[in-house]
Amino acid sequence: MVHHEGDSDRMNIAIDGPAGAGKSTVARKVAEQLGYVYIDTGSMYRAVTLSAQRAGVSVEQTVKLAELVRSLDIALEPGEQGQSVFVNGDDVTALIRSREVTLQVSHIAANETVREVLGLMQRKLAERKGVVMDGRDIGTHVLPQAELKIFLTASVKERALRRYREIVDTQSITLSQLESEIAERDRLDEQRDISPLICADDAIVLDSTAMTIDEVIQAIVKLSRTKMAEAK
Ligand code: DC
Repeated sequence: MVHHEGDSDRMNIAIDGPAGAGKSTVARKVAEQLGYVYIDTGSMYRAVTLSAQRAGVSVEQTVKLAELVRSLDIALEPGEQGQSVFVNGDDVTALIRSREVTLQVSHIAANETVREVLGLMQRKLAERKGVVMDGRDIGTHVLPQAELKIFLTASVKERALRRYREIVDTQSITLSQLESEIAERDRLDEQRDISPLICADDAIVLDSTAMTIDEVIQAIVKLSRTKMAEAK
């Protein structure tokens, strides 16, 4: 294996938690401050969901779904507004945020082969360290050896309110509708058999309900510096 200088000075940071806790914004900014690479694993599950919808493959067609996920080349690239996502060269960044994808993604993410294939890709992306990865099972399954694990959460009400503010101008949906959709997504993510959303034993829990995004970012950057100093 090629030795990359500086590998030993870097760590991997796993940020898990429920939908709408602020993981992606926080993870992206933490990566920016540390000079690390940000990887949004939710976008990969979304990319598979969109591809399945385009190919007319349903969650029940497990063999076809397995075939499909193995045929996808998913690439993540840093963009202006977070991360750009490409599937077989096609830019799907905006499309994977549609309501159709959002409503189906938890079902696709419960498929064993989908999780296996994406988990492998994610581990590979983190091999050289210096990665901030957000998702649901990063600290528990994908990167159990991550040097710093954060479980970022917030009340359902607060998470629905944040999402509402983000999309109120472009989508017609009520706050209570969002609240119940988020609660349902939590339920599906927490109760699936494979890699459910749970807090790793060695994760640090941050409840962001009464914190600003900036406070959360600073808390994580500080924790990473402490960990780094400890490791020396
Ligand atoms: O973070 P997000 O809303 O973009 O995630 C989309 C879906 O993907 C979410 O419902 C759960 C699933 N997911 C997962 O199961 N495991 C991950 N590591 C990341 C996301």
